[in-house]
Parts: sequence; C-alpha cells; structure tokens
Amino acid sequence: MQRMHIHGGRRLSGRIPISGAKNAALPALAATLLTGETVSLRRLPNVVDIRTMTRLIANIGSNVEQGGEGLSVQASGDLDPTAPYELVKTMRASSLVLGPLAARCGRARVSLPGGCAIGTRPIDMHLAGLRALGATIRQDRGYIEAVAPRNGLIGGRVSFRRPTVTGTEDLLMASVLAKGESVLENAAREPEVVDIASMLRKMGACIEGEGTSTIHVQGVDQLHGADHAIIPDRIEAGTYLIAGAMTGGELTLEGSRPDHLRPIITKMRQAGCEIEEKDNGELVVRNDRALISVDVTTREHPGFPTDMQAQFMALMTQASGASNVVETVFENRFMHALELQRMGADIEIGGNLAIVRGKTALTGTDVMASDLRASACLVLAGLVARGRTVVHRIYHLQRGYEGLAGKLTAAGASIEIVDE
Ligand code: EPU
Repeated sequence: MQRMHIHGGRRLSGRIPISGAKNAALPALAATLLTGETVSLRRLPNVVDIRTMTRLIANIGSNVEQGGEGLSVQASGDLDPTAPYELVKTMRASSLVLGPLAARCGRARVSLPGGCAIGTRPIDMHLAGLRALGATIRQDRGYIEAVAPRNGLIGGRVSFRRPTVTGTEDLLMASVLAKGESVLENAAREPEVVDIASMLRKMGACIEGEGTSTIHVQGVDQLHGADHAIIPDRIEAGTYLIAGAMTGGELTLEGSRPDHLRPIITKMRQAGCEIEEKDNGELVVRNDRALISVDVTTREHPGFPTDMQAQFMALMTQASGASNVVETVFENRFMHALELQRMGADIEIGGNLAIVRGKTALTGTDVMASDLRASACLVLAGLVARGRTVVHRIYHLQRGYEGLAGKLTAAGASIEIVDE
C-alpha cells in the first residue's frame, strides 16, 4: 500500500493535460462486447479501474491489444458471459457488462457488488430495465443472472425511478441489439451517456435523444467495428480548477471540454474564482482574490456533480462565510468532511447537509482516503495546509486520476508517493 506526502503552501502554475474520462471509458470498454469486429478506443486514461475493466472483458473472451494510441478490442469467438466476484468486488462498474452480455450472448452472470463507502448503490434499476426488455432475472449464490428470451432481447419501455448514469448506459447497450424499438425514460443526461451513445452510433446503432431525458433506440441485427476517442474527464478538470483556485498562481488545463464543466465553472465563479475559457478549449484558472462562500447542492447533470462535492468542500474551507453543501445523489458521501475537520476545517454535518465555515487555516496531519473523490479532496486540502499532510490509502486515487501526483508536481506542488 502507498501513501502520499504533501508539503502545503506552494502556488501552482503551469499546464496540466486532461486525460480521458474514466466514467466514459468504462462503458466504452463494455460496449466492445456488442460486436465480434475490432473496436479501437483512444484516450483511455491509464488508471486502475480501466485496467480492471480491461481484465474483465479479456476474462470474458475478448482479445485486447495495446495499439499506438489506445486499445484494440475484438470480442469474437466463444465468450464466457460472467463477471466474477474477484473483479466486481474491486469495481462496481463491472455491472456495465450486464446489458451488453445479455444482448450479445443472451445471458449474463454478474456477481452482485457488495457495500460501498458512499452509499448503498443497488443495481435494481439495471435489473428492472433488463426485465422490461424481456430478460428473466434471478439471483443465485451472490450472482445475478439475466437470461434473454430464446430469440434475444425485445425492445421495450424502460422507465427509471430516478436518473442513473451506469443504469442508462447499461440499458442503452442492451437495447441497441434488441428487436424493435426501446424507449428509456427519465434517462441520465451526463456527458458520459452522450459519449457512449455516439460510440454506439459509430458501431451502427440507431439512437436518438441522448443528452435528454428520453432516449429512443431502434434495435439493429448486429453492430460493427469502430474507432472512438473518449471525451476528456470533466471531474479531473474540475479537480485541477479547484487546485488552481485554492493555491493561487495560474493553471492552464489542456484538452478539457468547458461545455461539460458548466455547473462547476459557474459555482467557482460565484465563489470569486477567475476562470478564462480560451477559444482553443483551454481553461485558465488564476486567483489572487479572496474567496467567498457559496452554497452548492449536488444533482444529476446538468446540476452540480456529486463527483465534485468533496473537492468543492475543500475549496469552501478557504472561502469566507458559511457554505451549505447538500448531497442529494448518494446518502453517505461526507466521509471526507471528518478528515477535513482533523485538518482544522470548521464543518458541521446534519443528514445530507454540511455547513462549511471559512476561512480556516488548515494544518497538515495523517488523513485516510475513503473513496476516489474524497481522496482528491484531501489532496487539495493538503496543497494549502501548513506542514505535511499524509494521505493514506491512495489506491483510491489511483483508480481514477491518471498521474495526479506527477501532474501537480509539474505545476509546482511538493508531493511524494511513499510505500507504507
Ligand atoms: N441507484 C439505485 N438503483 C440503481 C442504480 C442507482 O437506487 O439501480 C441510485 C444510487 O444509489 C444513487 C443514484 O441512484 O443514489 C444515482 O446513482 P447512479 O446510478 O447514477 O450512479 P452510478 O451509475 O453507480 C456513476 C459514476 C459515479 C457517479 C455517479 C453519479 C460511473 C462508473 N460511476 O455511478 O462515479 O458518482 O454516476 O454521477 O460512471 C466516481 O467516479 O467517483 C463515481 C462514484
């Protein structure tokens, strides 16, 4: 196990390249299972979750080859439509193979994901959706088995109880090969959903309405190979925007999509951060003004993303006044607040509301990362804390941020990775 030592108090300046989005790359890898032809994926981030998903599809029977700019995947021949416990337990997004496998193989067997640090995170909506497409679902010894009718999945109406990102992606992948038309209602509108729809369309799928709450899919008999570049990671970009705003100086983010970052940029500007959007898509954050508190409530896209809540809370510890941070997507996503308190932050928690009072001088100490975004929040706090912050369990960070320590160090941060 590794930990991260951060010596706080340095201004950051320089250029940070933004990697491909983990949460778009995961369904993209699952979607390669929908065809026997070769699918080339570019701009996959080099992070542990992507390596886990790659292992999962290889385990199912895909031939995965490293190409110059990415991966070539071919899922031809015999496939074993199983996602075993050993892989699912390390990554809940493994359930993304349910839809593609049920569609392509007529059967999927996926281990039920266990508990999670940010909430209960059931997959009931994925299963209800597959049932609406004619699949029979049963649970057996910790595994979910979805079996399509003899002639394959049948188009149907899937009405999500609430928008679910991977649920929408899973059902989109299931319905592209189903017979007839499917309608996904109350669908998630995140940029990652739009990206997987555009990749599926390149593979021959017939989809309309992605990015809105209603997606129409006309099933086709088969899909073909394609070449797809993953969208830039909006949460990674948002995290570095906050790093720049908290530490002062000037950071330029290369290769981001400002249109995907709208809710983040808007809130940061309200807090007094200066963010420039250049014509070439670069984002520049500079900050020499005092930050002011703003309230934030997480919502599904186009609302403020829950995956930026922890980082925004770190920013609010450096703003004057009281900020109400409300988490509405997951029920238990304030673990980082307790660690921030240990660094000297003034945060009061009641249910899904955290009141952050600033500005507080943070002090470096030992802190424990509980999930990916909580870890990012603690790194951000460490960048401005007095003395040394030691972030334990940084494997969470390595699951989703490509080269975070290297990128921040190149911009002037003092960070070391140390073996425990
Ligand atoms: N939910 C259910 N039943 C379901 C599915 C979801 O009750 O069948 C609930 C969840 O428990 C949650 C809400 O619906 O309360 C929304 O969850 P959603 O399904 O949208 O989350 P997800 O698809 O499991 C993805 C991202 C998460 C991100 C959320 C919300 C991937 C691989 N993961 O998860 O990313 O927080 O959407 O935007 O895309 C991260 O990257 O750190 C991360 C946790």
